[in-house]
Amino acid sequence: MSFQKSPGTQDILPGSVERWQYVEQTARDICRRFNFREIRTPMFESTDLFKRGVGETTDIVEKEMYTFTDRGNRSITLRPEGTAGVVRSYVENKIYGEPDVSKLYYIGPMFRYERQQAGRYRQFHQFGVEALGSADPALDAEVIALGYTFYTEVGLKGVRVEINSIGTPAVRADFRDKLLAFLEPKRELLCKDCQSRMDRNPLRVLDCKTDQHHFEGAPSILDSLDEECRTHFDKVQTYLTDMGIPFVINPKLVRGLDYYTHTAFEYKAEGIGAIDTIGGGGRYNGLVSEIGGPEQPGVGLGLGLERTIMLLEHQAQQLPDPHRLDVYLVALGEASERRVTQLTYELRKAGLRAERDYLGRKMKAQLKSADRFEARYTAILGDDELARGEIALKEMATGEQKVIPLDQLVQELAGNK
Ligand code: HAM
Repeated sequence: MSFQKSPGTQDILPGSVERWQYVEQTARDICRRFNFREIRTPMFESTDLFKRGVGETTDIVEKEMYTFTDRGNRSITLRPEGTAGVVRSYVENKIYGEPDVSKLYYIGPMFRYERQQAGRYRQFHQFGVEALGSADPALDAEVIALGYTFYTEVGLKGVRVEINSIGTPAVRADFRDKLLAFLEPKRELLCKDCQSRMDRNPLRVLDCKTDQHHFEGAPSILDSLDEECRTHFDKVQTYLTDMGIPFVINPKLVRGLDYYTHTAFEYKAEGIGAIDTIGGGGRYNGLVSEIGGPEQPGVGLGLGLERTIMLLEHQAQQLPDPHRLDVYLVALGEASERRVTQLTYELRKAGLRAERDYLGRKMKAQLKSADRFEARYTAILGDDELARGEIALKEMATGEQKVIPLDQLVQELAGNK
């Protein structure tokens, strides 16, 4: 009997895991600079949290959640996204009691039972941030800038930022009526998905890929915005312009989760089949109170790491720091073997990436290993050298070889790093 991974999941193997680590390190470093601090919340929560938070009529809640009953008869769901759990934790731990805006970030797996396609997985990973406790449009702009900086610093080219304002629930109710009045006469012409969305969540109809030609002349939500919404949206744009973040306004952008108010945005790029959205987010001023907390506004984003990494590979972006060895140690003889074991450990403690042979192989095979690991140096220790207190050190790029005192090896290599 043999086993295979479940559909929609991935093994991240050595060779590609280095790219993941690099992307994650970049995310952490950007969060440090933007003063966001890490939060780690559980990978499963009560099902009701997501029904409440994400919204009963969203695709996520209607068809994509991994939900099961645990042995205590509770309905549990593997988190399909990060925001609801972070907000639950913010409320439960009374983080809102702190005097400053709470700026939090997370990196971790999310789970959605989605149809398989390039760039769409059932276990995928998000880098997300949530800033809670302020309605300042400068914070919307900061979050949008943070995501843009992330894509730029990992080395992605051609990322577009699209923004929109979807207003307040009152604004949306007004727009919904206008939109339905426009769509109703076309109902029969629209695809099945659009027809059912018209009844449940008409704003999302505008998102449809196939029916765009029917939406010519459709009302724009931007025309329904009230004074407060328009001022907020204008300020977000001013701040983005001041920071030099390029963006376009897309009045059809609505996002697939129910909690958004005011600003909604997405990052887009070509190169993953039919999918072009690689990240998204927005403001959610009603979510904290919706799940039982005080009236506290929030804004955040979620960026898909699989999609980021697929695009980096598609664009053939090189990792700035490949997984090379600093030194491979070759032992020739029993006494040298013992000394090499000790030296390898000392080199590692000194911060060098060091490896040696464990298979009792001849010198030639050991040197081949050094090549495979792309070692910068090979250090060769035979029993004769050992007796003289020396070791041979070869720089692989130049082929230059020298003999140095054994007790200077660590210092020599650490100095040349
Ligand atoms: P979302 O748009 O549902 O937003 O997901 C954000 C990103 O996660 C997507 O743009 C995509 O890159 C990635 N993603 C989503 N589903 C999949 C999948 N099945 N396979 C691979 N990647 C996927 C949210 O989740 C919100 N929580 C973002 C947010 C945070 N809004 C405010 N704060």
